[in-house]
Amino acid sequence: MVVRPLQGEFAAEVIGLRLPVDDATFRDVELAWLRHPILVFRDLQMTPQQHIAFTRRFGPLHIMEPLQYNLPGYPEIFVVSNVEEGGKALGMKRAGWGWHTDGEDKAIPNAGSMLYALELPPEGGDTLYADGYAAYEALSADVKDKIRGRRACFSRIKLHHVHYPHLPALTEEDKRKRPDVWHPLERRHPKSGRTALYIGRWACAIEGMPEDEGAQLVRWLQEFSVRPEFVYRHRWRLHDAVLWDNRCAQHCATPFDDAKYRRHMLRTTLEGDAPMMATSPARSLASP
Ligand code: SIN
Repeated sequence: MVVRPLQGEFAAEVIGLRLPVDDATFRDVELAWLRHPILVFRDLQMTPQQHIAFTRRFGPLHIMEPLQYNLPGYPEIFVVSNVEEGGKALGMKRAGWGWHTDGEDKAIPNAGSMLYALELPPEGGDTLYADGYAAYEALSADVKDKIRGRRACFSRIKLHHVHYPHLPALTEEDKRKRPDVWHPLERRHPKSGRTALYIGRWACAIEGMPEDEGAQLVRWLQEFSVRPEFVYRHRWRLHDAVLWDNRCAQHCATPFDDAKYRRHMLRTTLEGDAPMMATSPARSLASP
């Protein structure tokens, strides 16, 4: 197995990994992921069982809801796809067309996700990743002072119709399951100990700030965090699997002509921890 940087420390590719991996190789993969929040495994031809088993080694898996978008027989696999068979959608269409981290609108957001490419359009459909560590480091002292110790509100209830106009409205039951949550804007990564700017498209307010001022700062942070200098564009190759770290990186799927071309991807998702303020102590790197 060889790990080669693709863009600074932020993204790297892993060549020659074959599943299943032994413990020593897995430890190298884990350390590589800690160093490179975006890890691209090339030509990782895997079955759904192997995809699940490999991701599960990083931690417990999350089952995405509603269950209708998951692979039949494999609830751990969320299908991101515009493909239909017999008039039935095989997965969620246009998932992730907008900057976010997975589960940012839940009390316990997801630690990581692994997306595997099974069918790709000839153009478009890249995925962009934005480096939350680099964005945090680049913030001016003034802005850091403004956000220090503050949390942002992430609201599925307020923003579902904005981000998913093509999906059914939330039911009262959905709303009960996805109440507004508050997360630190300066997020300490539990394993690397580094601080990332934690923001995404479900953010809408900042605690302790008047509504207008908070909303304006949220918008500014959203735009700042995805400036081109922080972004890696992944141009997919068949059988690439990208493992990303939601604790320090946002991602965004880019459009493609989904009336003309097929894009079919399978995703596993890792459970996470409650986000920590930058002032919280980090766990040792020796025990990932
Ligand atoms: C996602 O947000 O999980 C999907 C990203 C993609 O389809 O590129």
